[in-house]
Amino acid sequence: MKTNRTFTMIKPDAVADGHIGAILDIITKNGFKIVALKYTKLSAEKAGQFYEVHKERPFYAGLVEFMSSGPIVAAILEKDNAITEFRTLIGATNPADAAEGTIRNLYARSIGENAVHGSDSDENADIEGNFFFSAFERF
Ligand code: PPS
Repeated sequence: MKTNRTFTMIKPDAVADGHIGAILDIITKNGFKIVALKYTKLSAEKAGQFYEVHKERPFYAGLVEFMSSGPIVAAILEKDNAITEFRTLIGATNPADAAEGTIRNLYARSIGENAVHGSDSDENADIEGNFFFSAFERF
């Protein structure tokens, strides 16, 4: 089922670098409605669960360590065609390849510390949103 929702995290690098406000501003100015929002910190165990689909990949341990290294902002966003529109807005995984003006182009430190996450499918947006938010925390 198409939900027109996506899930995002502002990752520990962008939070530590003071970019929460700028990133939320870009998101809302590009027509995304925030339907859930949370400032939190993942334990290593929780980060490992969130990224379990990547557990065979060589960067998995580093990714889990990084994602549990400091606070993050988690959010569910709503817009027509949200998955594709948001992945365009954040840019390529590697900021060196991210188009000018995209969030990763502006704020990512590196391929590993790349400022934001965006769901890759409607199904995963639903799973990831449910990972962070209860029914009482989304609107
Ligand atoms: S994606 O979005 O799933 O298509 O991207 P993918 O390239 O498959 O990467 C999956 C997640 O792993 C992160 N990643 C890395 N972390 C550390 N080091 C390296 N080299 C690396 N390559 C990819 C990438 O940022 C994705 O995390 P999320 O949170 O989904 O953006």
